Amino acid sequence: VNAEEVFIVGPQNEYKTAIKSFASENLNVVNNLLIQKTTEASIPHLSHHFHEEHHRCGGFFAFETEEEAAIFAKDFSLNSHIGSNLPFNEELNNKELVNKALSEVEEVNIRKTIEHLSSYHNRYYTSDTGVKSSEWIKSEWENLLYFRKDAKVEFFEHKSWPQASVIATIQGSTKADEIVIIGGHQDSIAGFFGGRKSRAPGADDNASGIASITEILRVFAANNIKPERTIQFMAYAAEEVGLRGSKEIARKYKNEGKNVVGVMQLDMTNFKGSDDFTIILISDHTNKDQNTYLGKLIDEYLKVPWGYSKCGYGCSDHASWNALGYPASFPHEAQFKDSNKKIHTSRDLINLSGGNANHAVNFARLGLSYAIELSL
Ligand code: BES
Ligand code: ZN
Repeated sequence: VNAEEVFIVGPQNEYKTAIKSFASENLNVVNNLLIQKTTEASIPHLSHHFHEEHHRCGGFFAFETEEEAAIFAKDFSLNSHIGSNLPFNEELNNKELVNKALSEVEEVNIRKTIEHLSSYHNRYYTSDTGVKSSEWIKSEWENLLYFRKDAKVEFFEHKSWPQASVIATIQGSTKADEIVIIGGHQDSIAGFFGGRKSRAPGADDNASGIASITEILRVFAANNIKPERTIQFMAYAAEEVGLRGSKEIARKYKNEGKNVVGVMQLDMTNFKGSDDFTIILISDHTNKDQNTYLGKLIDEYLKVPWGYSKCGYGCSDHASWNALGYPASFPHEAQFKDSNKKIHTSRDLINLSGGNANHAVNFARLGLSYAIELSL
């Protein structure tokens, strides 16, 4: 090995200019990471270039052999660690459209969806009603998207249990390979042994999240917004038994090298447990830059008080994405200590939220502003 040779791995977009400046040899692109051969001597220049052009440190990784560089690039998640094409520094430049769309969010739609989903005996991942409820979500999303040629709704089947995840896709135009995901879990659980037979209405946990997502999808589609990035809405199966649905989906996306630029998790949106805050961003197992961006969206479009809280463990599907390096955020109904205490019981019903979906409206509005700003 020539001691002078160094193989560097860095974000493809920014390196296009770096190549020009330093005439290093462009070898391969893996996961949006460019592998380049360069010389030991050029490293300080590259660092300098990054400070000047991109106002941050180099963000590249150096290896002695091309093989090591290739393995690193293959395993590496560009999304959370380097962040070259992450959109969270983009200006909020769709204010008129977002404000119009937000005014169309309707509490009654969210309420009706919560009521319907909590009317199944349960939505347990191995029960018949858990399968029926997933079919209902699919057909509901299909109805809301039927007039759009650029959209489809699919089951994501899981080998080990009958309840499928549901994925609605609105195809992006100019940046179709960049994916924005808004998801939540569809399943419910209750009783000491969980179980296929227990009554588990799961109105807050998590009919409320699916209902918020459904309203986001409805308003987004109805406004005939043609996204540049691809946007996907997901109703995960089998969250309550170890995040199993979202884990399988995230793993498949990772294996296929999909470029997920942002994930929003909506799990429990309709119980206002904290007096001082309307929206709480869960700060652990989530992406800091995206959380900051969500704060910006809330300040600009919702103008409601928000804060941070921690679960202290990987408490929902955002953790499945975060674990694989995809930037995930989890806006939640309350601080962890103040959140709904009746979840996972037969009493998790909408009457605990005054029989309305007023609190969930905030999350539909946040998700809608996120979907519009990031997809355009
Ligand atoms: N919705 C809960 C998580 C949650 C509860 C978040 C309270 C914030 C406040 C979720 O459905 C759940 O029950 N998660 C499990 C963990 C999971 C890995 C099975 C939990 O919290 O025990
Ligand atoms: Zn939940």
